[in-house]
Amino acid sequence: MDAFGIDISPAMLAIARRDNPDLSFSVGSMTELALADRSVGGILASFSVIHIPDEHIPTVFAHFHRVLRPGGAALLGFHVGDRHKIKTEGYGGHPMKVHLHWRPVDRMAAWLREAGFTIEAEIVGNQDAKAPAGFLVARRPVVTQP
Ligand SMILES: C[S@@+](CC[C@H](N)C(=O)[O-])C[C@H]1O[C@@H](n2cnc3c(N)ncnc32)[C@H](O)[C@@H]1O
Repeated sequence: MDAFGIDISPAMLAIARRDNPDLSFSVGSMTELALADRSVGGILASFSVIHIPDEHIPTVFAHFHRVLRPGGAALLGFHVGDRHKIKTEGYGGHPMKVHLHWRPVDRMAAWLREAGFTIEAEIVGNQDAKAPAGFLVARRPVVTQP
């Protein structure tokens, strides 16, 4: 599989390159995804949309739909819940300022449907944990519904 990674953080990409020297990575934002229309077969967005404010989620999911080839799928991982906070301290205590969202699975699925996806799977792991993990598989249909 020909895979590549995009992240907004050069420091995160340095770790990704260290751990995956055979893959390519570039700095970019999913809110302005610099990929051609219908250019990828699949997307993995692993616990990254948790940092996107609600008002920008439709833009991000529109980009995911745009860059996927018809029939392609996106797998999203996210924190399940219904709250938001600004995180001001990272692991190890270093200062940061990022949005952090916990969202209901239904809300995420509705945003994906509004962007044109069909939902193939909804999984909630660690249901008894403080922050269950949600996973959605969303597919760009081969034929767009009128
Ligand atoms: C919790 S980490 C997850 C990292 C990695 N995807 C994983 O599963 O291990 C969240 C990641 O989202 C990235 N991120 C936040 N906002 C982003 C954006 N607008 N575009 C691209 N990446 C973003 C952060 O830099 C960070 O690397």
